[in-house]
Amino acid sequence: FGNFLKDRFDRQHNYLRISLTEKCNLRCTYCMPAEGVNLTPSHELLSFEEIMRIARLFVSQGLTGIMMIIGELGKLKSQGLHTLAITSNGIALKRKLPRLVENGLNALNISLDTLDPLKFELITRRKGFERVMESIEQAISLGIKPVKVNCVVMRGMNDQEVLDFIDLTRTKSIDVRFIEYMPFDGNKWNKKKLVPYRELLDKIHDKYNDVRKLQDDASDTSKAYHIPGFLGQFGFITSMSDHFCGTCNRLRITADGNLKVCLFGNAEINLRDLMRKDTPDQQLLDIIGSAVKNKKKQHAADFARNIKTLVRSAEKSFPFTIT
Ligand code: GTP
Ligand code: 5AD
Ligand code: SF4
Repeated sequence: FGNFLKDRFDRQHNYLRISLTEKCNLRCTYCMPAEGVNLTPSHELLSFEEIMRIARLFVSQGLTGIMMIIGELGKLKSQGLHTLAITSNGIALKRKLPRLVENGLNALNISLDTLDPLKFELITRRKGFERVMESIEQAISLGIKPVKVNCVVMRGMNDQEVLDFIDLTRTKSIDVRFIEYMPFDGNKWNKKKLVPYRELLDKIHDKYNDVRKLQDDASDTSKAYHIPGFLGQFGFITSMSDHFCGTCNRLRITADGNLKVCLFGNAEINLRDLMRKDTPDQQLLDIIGSAVKNKKKQHAADFARNIKTLVRSAEKSFPFTIT
């Protein structure tokens, strides 16, 4: 596909996440307010056909990683799609998993910030810890690999549980990823709550001095580690203390059809309206290509020096899929 999805900094974009919904059955404190967020009316969201048209366009240009409506997307596997993944909060996932796997799902990210049911309620403002654990177990027993467990670490809230999460990787074939807490519009972030990954790694090292660094792919968001003898592994998503913009290969489509070339960017291109105006495929591709060419070198200025500049609409950017 040559230069089409390559930007000025030589980053090749072969990874697309499409948000299917803005709705969520949890209210994680670090993500949204208790009352939830304003939802886009359903006719302004992408339709099934529109999602499939975008997916086909990207796959035809050589996209190799993607997440989406699994049934139809499974069919794109014969046309160059390798990884079909979803990110989910795991609340209503267990029952759906066998069929998703039958349809081609082969990777899964589940959010779980605590192993304490009461704390789960405090963080998500809802009950459901057991259901999430059951979804994780189900995914493992269906043979999904990798099963990634996303844990946003917040000082004073769940940072004391890091070694308990590590212990889970002893007997479970999961990849626990500790995520640095990021500041988004109105999520009450403050610097004291951010735990830089180095601090966590030191703590893990104190207990396990044989921790090994694993090789990361250039486009991985996480830095991966393994403890000899453990079934699973762990890693850190260091968006704050060591961003990974230089090797970013990601493009996103929001549930209402905006193309985002950066998770934190607001330079959105409205593909939904273009499709609804019957824009032909080639013109859509040209517009997508030029958005990629205009992608910035790295996200919102310098985190370390000016943290306040980071603005993002959380509810629109995250890959909320099957919840
Ligand atoms: P995998 O390809 O499966 O590793 O997915 P992922 O880590 O990109 O996606 P996931 O939905 O599981 O998100 C986990 C965390 O990584 C979230 O906190 C995201 O905000 C963060 N993240 C994902 N993509 C990016 C990115 O492009 N830039 C930054 N800064 N953070 C990202
Ligand atoms: N900082 C870091 N990660 C976050 N997520 C949601 N909000 C934040 C934040 N402020 C995580 C969720 C989920 C993933 C898609 O993004 O926990 O695992
Ligand atoms: Fe929590 Fe994810 Fe729902 Fe946000 S979208 S409230 S992070 S489960």
